[in-house]
Amino acid sequence: MIIERIFLSNFRNYEKLDLKLGGSVNLFLGNNAQGKTNLLEAVEVAATSRSHRTNRDSELVRWGQDGYYIKARFRLNGSHSIAEVGYSPGRGRIIRIDGAPPDNPGEYRVAGAVFFGPDDLQIIKGPPSGRRKLIDTQAAHIYPGFRSEAASFARILNQRNWALRGGSRVENHSDLDVWDEQFAVASARIMNRRIATLMELRPILKAVYKRLAPDGDLEIRYLPSMMIENDSSPVTVESLRSQVEERRADDLARRVTTAGPHRDDFLICLNDVDIRVYGSQGQQRSAVLALKLAELELASRLRESPPILLLDDVFSELDLGHRMALAAAVRDTAQTFVTCTDLDTIPQCLCGAFIFRVEGGSVHPASSHTS
Ligand SMILES: Nc1ncnc2c1ncn2[C@@H]1O[C@H](COP(=O)(O)OP(=O)(O)OP(=O)(O)O)[C@@H](O)[C@H]1O
Ligand SMILES: [Mg+2]
Repeated sequence: MIIERIFLSNFRNYEKLDLKLGGSVNLFLGNNAQGKTNLLEAVEVAATSRSHRTNRDSELVRWGQDGYYIKARFRLNGSHSIAEVGYSPGRGRIIRIDGAPPDNPGEYRVAGAVFFGPDDLQIIKGPPSGRRKLIDTQAAHIYPGFRSEAASFARILNQRNWALRGGSRVENHSDLDVWDEQFAVASARIMNRRIATLMELRPILKAVYKRLAPDGDLEIRYLPSMMIENDSSPVTVESLRSQVEERRADDLARRVTTAGPHRDDFLICLNDVDIRVYGSQGQQRSAVLALKLAELELASRLRESPPILLLDDVFSELDLGHRMALAAAVRDTAQTFVTCTDLDTIPQCLCGAFIFRVEGGSVHPASSHTS
């Protein structure tokens, strides 16, 4: 799948933009705060209908405007289609492919997209939410329905929390029985997706890290907040049901659901020790790169057409060996979008690309625009 052209209206700092894109590598070059990341985000929204930066469409609307609109022309197996994503507070979200809303908007996906940016170091260094997002993103590559399942889990969790806070004002908490049951079922679904995703991801991650650092053994383990037998066999609803029941008194006292997929974590180990605690800066960076390359490999294996790759200002942070490893991975994608402030940080093999200069919310082919 190739995005051939993208049109933006009132998206972030772009008032209007109509841009023809190259079929392989597109390089967006510009100073800070000109709109490079915003443009990558627009491509991501066109491809997946989602932004990795935010779940709130209102943030994507150009300040002072009523709504945003993105239209992209893409080519798949020789035929062209038009994808549209728009939002305004009055009308909400509008998503269309070739003029018609998709059957299940939660599963809209023109193309898979793998995003890699400077904040991704937080996957290792930051709180568990970043690691959950990483695994859930990979789960969504494998199971197209995963996003809808996660949204359904989040709704059930909210309802249960509301009931725990006494929202329904029923003294005997009979409403909680209903939410406990739904919570156990939805939790088992999410946890089993995560377990299955880890099984797919582990061997790829190990192999990718070995290519970056032959002495290193990189592993990722599941640290669920509810008890499981081990992290390679499925959990049952029964086992979760009894844990939810046991925790109910505590949850009522704290007025919140204290355990479940929303509190899970993942342990990333290098040679059997927690890389977050004991890894050097360089090892942590290698691990993040390996996680992203593994995501790319996983997504490429699963889809009929490879995912698009979005590389936001990452080359300047990497040493030469890692830059070359990342540049080599570009070969596994249909189309890549790269941002940078300085072309000197970009491996030579990517510089024969379409180069665009980004300045204050407008984009022009650079003079060095080559073959
Ligand atoms: N909803 C919005 N409406 C208008 N402008 C916005 C909106 N959201 C962000 N901006 C602005 O867009 C500008 C460009 O942001 P962007 O993140 O794309 O910069 P960048 O070119 O990637 O810069 P850097 O090299 O520093 O990462 C920033 O000044 C930012 O404040
Ligand atoms: Mg940026």
